[in-house]
Amino acid sequence: MSQALPPRPVIFDTDPGIDDAMALWMLARHPGLDLRAITTVHGNAPVGTTTRNALALVDFFGLDVPVAAGADDALLPRTERFFPTQVHHEDGLGGGAPLLPATRRQPDPRPAWQLICDEINAAPGEITLVAVAPLTNLALALRHDPGIARKVREVVLMGGAFGLHGHGGNVTPVAEANIINDPEAADLVFTASWPVVTVGLDVTQQVVMPEALLQSLQGRRGPVGDFFWQITRHYQRYYDGRDAIGGLYAHDASAVVYCVAPEAFQLRRGPVRVALEGIARGQTIQDHLGLHEDSPASPWRGCPDQQVCVGVDAQRVRDEFMQLFDDSSQAASPAVSGDSQ
Ligand code: BDR
Ligand code: CA
Repeated sequence: MSQALPPRPVIFDTDPGIDDAMALWMLARHPGLDLRAITTVHGNAPVGTTTRNALALVDFFGLDVPVAAGADDALLPRTERFFPTQVHHEDGLGGGAPLLPATRRQPDPRPAWQLICDEINAAPGEITLVAVAPLTNLALALRHDPGIARKVREVVLMGGAFGLHGHGGNVTPVAEANIINDPEAADLVFTASWPVVTVGLDVTQQVVMPEALLQSLQGRRGPVGDFFWQITRHYQRYYDGRDAIGGLYAHDASAVVYCVAPEAFQLRRGPVRVALEGIARGQTIQDHLGLHEDSPASPWRGCPDQQVCVGVDAQRVRDEFMQLFDDSSQAASPAVSGDSQ
């Protein structure tokens, strides 16, 4: 482990979700992180399902943190709903939800946005908001209490696609799922005066978790390693069918790794806007050249600089995840050919 600093307090906004479950395991186990609360949202499944999954995972991972249910639709309600069952299955966990022990845990009575505001206001300057799902809860929190923007320590997102390293979107050619599921919310989050770092497909798709590595989880950390092997079978079939990678992308876990090992990522600074109209709806666009400075009518003008991840040390991301299954903190995962920054 690389951390000597005090554990970093985190609120986790999530739509579990197979890779969300992997990210939550990291938040539960990593000594550099102090998970304070979980908020759930629509995305990989309806919010009733993602909340049920979050509650069960909290028990399974031995956590004791509040779980508040959040929005079940985007800021602009949609008439047609689509859930990515081909990626995460109907139960959001690759068909593995029945593997989790039944829980009596109940959701916190507050809506997600309220829990986010309460936690940030109770610890000004301390909380990192890690959001790996559509950004509706964060937008609602900003709308209810804009003052949280200057009290949060950092907002770390898994979201967006900036066209780097040959990667485009995963829902449309230009739009990533967490953004296109609520583009208006995402634009509010990127343009608010709080520090945002986004870990998008440009880097998460540089990090392949190969099948052999996932298979090696079996029998480790009690039933947890077996659980991950089982729930990733459906997810891997999807990615093998799409990209023939012989494994999967652990999108959301990469955002958690950023919190404990930011040095494993290269960042690019500049304001980010989200396209809200037409065939580019959901596209994330960063003005990293500062073109808005010479253009009074630029949509990026007046928006704060944010940070976009443009490079990643893939081996480091895998190692940070795999170390949490070892008794020895020195153990590393095997290298995978084809890694690039
Ligand atoms: C993102 O969308 C969801 O399917 C995943 O959980 C991840 O947060 C990847 O585009
Ligand atoms: Ca997610």
